[in-house]
Amino acid sequence: MSLPIILASGTQSISQIHPLFEQTAPGDPGFLQGRVNAYYRNRVEGDWRGGHIMKGRTPGGSDLVLTSNDYLSLSTHAEIVEAQVAALRENGRGVLRSDVFRNGEDELGKFETGLAALMGAEDVVTCQSGWNANVGLLQSMANEETPVYLDMYAHTSLWEGVLSAGATARPFKHNDPESLDRMAAKHGAGVVCVDAVYSTSGEIAPLRAMTEVAERHGCVLVVDESHSLGIFGARGEGLVEDLGLSGQVHFRTSSLSKAFAARGGIVAGSARNMEYFRYESRPAIFSSGILPSEAAGFLATLEVIAREDWRRARLQDNAAYLRAGLDALGYNVEASRTQIISLVAGPEENTILLRDALETARCVRVGVLRPGHLQEPLPGAVFGARGTVRRAVGQAAGGVRGHPARGGHGRLGIHPQTEIPLRAHGTAAQRIGSV
Ligand SMILES: Cc1ncc(COP(=O)(O)O)c(C=O)c1O
Repeated sequence: MSLPIILASGTQSISQIHPLFEQTAPGDPGFLQGRVNAYYRNRVEGDWRGGHIMKGRTPGGSDLVLTSNDYLSLSTHAEIVEAQVAALRENGRGVLRSDVFRNGEDELGKFETGLAALMGAEDVVTCQSGWNANVGLLQSMANEETPVYLDMYAHTSLWEGVLSAGATARPFKHNDPESLDRMAAKHGAGVVCVDAVYSTSGEIAPLRAMTEVAERHGCVLVVDESHSLGIFGARGEGLVEDLGLSGQVHFRTSSLSKAFAARGGIVAGSARNMEYFRYESRPAIFSSGILPSEAAGFLATLEVIAREDWRRARLQDNAAYLRAGLDALGYNVEASRTQIISLVAGPEENTILLRDALETARCVRVGVLRPGHLQEPLPGAVFGARGTVRRAVGQAAGGVRGHPARGGHGRLGIHPQTEIPLRAHGTAAQRIGSV
């Protein structure tokens, strides 16, 4: 059966773009067919009208790739690459085992000590990803009895942690300490989870107010610093330490795939709690650890991030320049106060329209707009940005009651980077605006 859907970006039928749509898998049991069919019917055919929210054009060499989280432009930093190459030559890929078996001082240990000092924390534990940091933390801390208060827009990995812990999610209104206050008054002491900077909107959390409410109700506070570590503070110490709140925040987590331009994650906290987390979180025990070359890269990156404050200054300058340009063109970029700038597009089908227009029209020949973690910056790219679609991003948490993924709408997020000759491309904002 062919489905004559008009594509958002053209007139092809779904089957031309998605040959798998028409296929059946006779060997697959009904429950699996049902799940897979729902993807094709509800997502591809329904929400995306035959387009694909994640599949934009393949960027060419001269395209500006707007998908990267490498905010400080460190992915090709010579000193960091050299450190990784030297470690690879010396150790190969290392011992290949879970990090609970690590013993003695090594590059990873030096990184953890150095990062803890930078963040004003007693200790840091490195994880395989920011996802694992958040899931492992919630899983090892909460149980069926624990209310977990999540900002509605908190990262999906925190929601996944709630599922893993078997705890109850108690979402509160986005960036609203009074809403948290009401929830905590009703359900009692538990865990509060917020992002310092929200990845979909670029908004900053009201952290001071959040710490006050958490303290008043005897709650543990978890702040995800994935988009603020390396970015805030004179040496990149992150927002919590920059605000002088390290003493009031029990746990800080972060991906190392943003400003650190690597692959990994961390949890920072008290020495007592970190010792526990290091040996009791399931991803730490049952998933293989960090490679020596990755650890050497983390350590070199930490030194660069702490030393090269000019990168933060230039990033903020670029972000402010782009925000002002987009604002002047009538885009609503009010919410963003950071290096993440979001263009709200409405329903996902409109998001695809906007993405296609940005990619094909006279704008900046934007290569790709899709979630940053799926797309590496390309050589010659001068922009960093990404497209985020709350429902797509939050799908994995769809089973958690109250998760905003359920009523999602699309937005494109633009991430300027440090090494963008933005002014040389002075008309970039205008060209985006002309779509
Ligand atoms: C706020 C936030 N937390 C956690 C993660 C997960 O990090 P990672 O990509 O290292 O698993 C991300 C990345 O998408 C994020 O944006």
